[in-house]
Amino acid sequence: KLKIVTLGGGSSYTPELIEGFIRRYDELPVTDYYLVDIDAGAEKLKIVGELAKRMVKKSGLPMTVHLTTNRNEALFDADFVTTQLRVGQQEARIHDEAIPLKYGVLGQETTGAGGFMKAQRTIPVLLDLCRDMERLCPEAWLINFTNPAGIVTEAIEKYSPIKTLGICSGANNMMMEIAGVYGVERRDVYARVMGLNHLIFADQIAVKSQDVTAGFIEMLAKSAGGSSLKNVPDIGLPPDFIRALGLFPLSYLKYFYLSREMVEHSLQDCKAHGTRGEQTREIERKLFEIYKNPQLESKPKELESRGGAYYSETACSIISSIYNDKKEIHVVNTPNRGATRDLDDESVVETNAMIDRQGAHPLAYGRLPVKVRGLIQSVKAFEELTVEAAVTGDYSTALMALSVHPLIPSVDIAGKILDEYLAVNRPFLPQY
Ligand code: G6P
Ligand code: MN
Repeated sequence: KLKIVTLGGGSSYTPELIEGFIRRYDELPVTDYYLVDIDAGAEKLKIVGELAKRMVKKSGLPMTVHLTTNRNEALFDADFVTTQLRVGQQEARIHDEAIPLKYGVLGQETTGAGGFMKAQRTIPVLLDLCRDMERLCPEAWLINFTNPAGIVTEAIEKYSPIKTLGICSGANNMMMEIAGVYGVERRDVYARVMGLNHLIFADQIAVKSQDVTAGFIEMLAKSAGGSSLKNVPDIGLPPDFIRALGLFPLSYLKYFYLSREMVEHSLQDCKAHGTRGEQTREIERKLFEIYKNPQLESKPKELESRGGAYYSETACSIISSIYNDKKEIHVVNTPNRGATRDLDDESVVETNAMIDRQGAHPLAYGRLPVKVRGLIQSVKAFEELTVEAAVTGDYSTALMALSVHPLIPSVDIAGKILDEYLAVNRPFLPQY
């Protein structure tokens, strides 16, 4: 018996995961797959859950898909729990993005103020989940995709005994981009990755075991560092900057390196099409229309317009590496434990790690290059304060979290954003 549970099962991303489990059935024979959602998500759960059932049926595999709003029933005796939930749904995301933008500050789901707010809503819910897991499936792994994934993982590591890993589609997308450039398979690419979630850099890039780092960086410079993630606006970084950096930055780094241009772009984009949350709400509405079609038995192409496209690749291969004690190397969010001495051992980093039945063993990295060290350390300070604020509900800690973030230029504005955030998020903030 192998029981896997997904919280936020009514998410439009669910077909991704189902496809991943079906494809990997030989090595990961899931007997029972539980999709769980809250009452408010029951209708979406039914639509996407029925599609999941059709996909499994078509595969002919002996896997049972269960749809439920009863979390305890699902968690009992589970082996793996994955989360992709969104506290407050798209409405809350839209506030996260729109409020900072009013002050000319980046309004993004995970980077900057938005990530802070999302963490305040999400961390109490996930710590509550962990307490349920302690009762119902204390040995299970919690594979967390819920954003802000790095911050949420740090909270769980600090405040719960449950075994956990945080995951993101970003690093895999970078590898796919490299594979695309060289016309090889994703599995032919290896790169060293270090940083924080949505703030990673790759180097030591190898294609079929040949180091191509210098050539790839030059190519990136010539193409102005094209963006691989669908949710990050494609504004090019200056070629000379990319050459000077000498590292392959995840597209989210543009929010830091082109902070003015990216805010400018967001403001215009927002005027024309609404915030990204308003856009994804529309994409989701269309996806659910597509999912409703009883003829549909596979993941539709349209899902690729979401930023998290292909995330099941990461999720399912990591679960398999734990389950089969594979000792493969994957990029995960896990405590640093000495991988670099430029961050605390307890600080969660996004890094290459060997994954086996014991979990993640981060690979030694050494010093962070001075050109990115300060940025990583200051965002880590923001993350640490964000976790503390989410757990304590302490206003001063929350204000300091926003004030130390490199993309929030004024402490006065930080306070105004915080007050507006707390006001609209009241129903989701039991700790404040
Ligand atoms: C990227 C990130 C995910 C994030 C997604 C947002 O893939 O890695 O963590 O959830 O983008 O995409 P969306 O389509 O919701 O804007
Ligand atoms: Mn991510």
